[in-house]
Amino acid sequence: MSNQMWGGRFTTGPDAIMEEINASIGFDYRLARQDIAGSKAHVAMLAATGIVSQADADAIAKGLDEVGAEIESGKLTFSRALEDIHMNVESRLAEKIGPAAGRLHTARSRNDQVAVDFKLWVRDTIDELDGQLRDLQLALVEQAQAHADAVMPGFTHLQSAQPVTFGHHLLAYVEMIARDRGRFRDARTRLNECPLGAAALAGTSFPIDRAATARALGFDRPTANSLDSVSDRDFVLETLAAAAIAATHLSRFAEEIVLWTTPQFGFISLSDKFTTGSSIMPQKRNPDSAELVRGKSGRIIGDLAGLLIVMKGLPLAYSKDMQEDKEGCFDSLQSLSLCIAAMAGMVRDMTPRLDRMKAAAGSGYSTATDLADWLVRTLGMPFRQAHHVTGRIVALAAEKGLELEQLSLEKMQAVEPAITAAVFEVLGVENSVRSRLSYGGTTPDNVRKQAQAWRDRLDGEKSA
Ligand code: ARG
Repeated sequence: MSNQMWGGRFTTGPDAIMEEINASIGFDYRLARQDIAGSKAHVAMLAATGIVSQADADAIAKGLDEVGAEIESGKLTFSRALEDIHMNVESRLAEKIGPAAGRLHTARSRNDQVAVDFKLWVRDTIDELDGQLRDLQLALVEQAQAHADAVMPGFTHLQSAQPVTFGHHLLAYVEMIARDRGRFRDARTRLNECPLGAAALAGTSFPIDRAATARALGFDRPTANSLDSVSDRDFVLETLAAAAIAATHLSRFAEEIVLWTTPQFGFISLSDKFTTGSSIMPQKRNPDSAELVRGKSGRIIGDLAGLLIVMKGLPLAYSKDMQEDKEGCFDSLQSLSLCIAAMAGMVRDMTPRLDRMKAAAGSGYSTATDLADWLVRTLGMPFRQAHHVTGRIVALAAEKGLELEQLSLEKMQAVEPAITAAVFEVLGVENSVRSRLSYGGTTPDNVRKQAQAWRDRLDGEKSA
């Protein structure tokens, strides 16, 4: 049997392998709700402009609602022979209301139809992700408030650098996630133009009202160029790029959780809820949740690369290659959603081991910069010279196997005679973090203020 949607020119059906490679219903069934919404907006406009009769439009709209309900409840069995969600919906509509169903596709093509459906789906998903990212920020802010003054080592090159607070470290991720949310928001703003009415590629000879369908579907305006409307997948690429960057942030944090939960670091522990055991090694508690967040960033980044490669060689306007835009997008955004939820769960679950963090914060000569700064401030030494003097003192302490504050005043004076006992005040980790008063610095007062500011902002978003 030739195709009921476009079979006029065809005498036989497709080869089995053609049907298999051609069909997208196996994944684009996810666009069902958006497809129904798009069709309802389209048919309402066709009636308002007199292109179809009100009676037909009413029958179509009612039929679409019924098809939508059948899909929601899992009652409709999709057919692969019908290729995709668009033709499955339309075919079911025809079974229900008869030939009037054939008027729905007036002044429309699957090319603008799939573009509008996919935009609506991406827009809905961005909104869901935004809510999830906000929740993750909230989880981080709560832990940051609870541990605004808990000292831990700050690292560069993963070598102890200078003490920071745990709250400060967590707030760094709150900032990253704020930018991630901004990127999704930007993508959403730019995608919010309606391609419906571009038809196959050139526009249509019917007197359609594109502003009306754009408005009905919550778009800011119709897209301006029909060729661009049906061949643009920037909105997917931008969203996948935002997802890839967000996943990269989550992956970095996941890596830290993996490190921090080792017996060697021991900075935090995760409960049974977010860890697994080993079938052979009874002592093990593995941070699989964090490892999977780190691991899934691979496919999320890959999904972006995949679609960029699909798109880069395509002449205008639509080519079937573009059907390959969906699976990677679904995969990326679903994976990201899972990662965000898992991360929020871990953040709420984690117990910091403050004694371990503090002990580690003081090791590795992490207050050497404080000593150098003291030499500058108190003795008026140029910083370069202070750096050199401090280096010699650190070397001396290392030689004796001591921490800086364990080195006697006499030993320090052997390197720099002008040093006084007052220096010991800056060698402790608590004093070190308290002294980082510059804007954005790790002093606990800053951390508390910033955590509170985030709290207020996030609470405000909820009520907004
Ligand atoms: N399933 C197709 C897709 O996802 C819909 C558009 C088909 N358009 C066409 N001219 N064959 O891209």
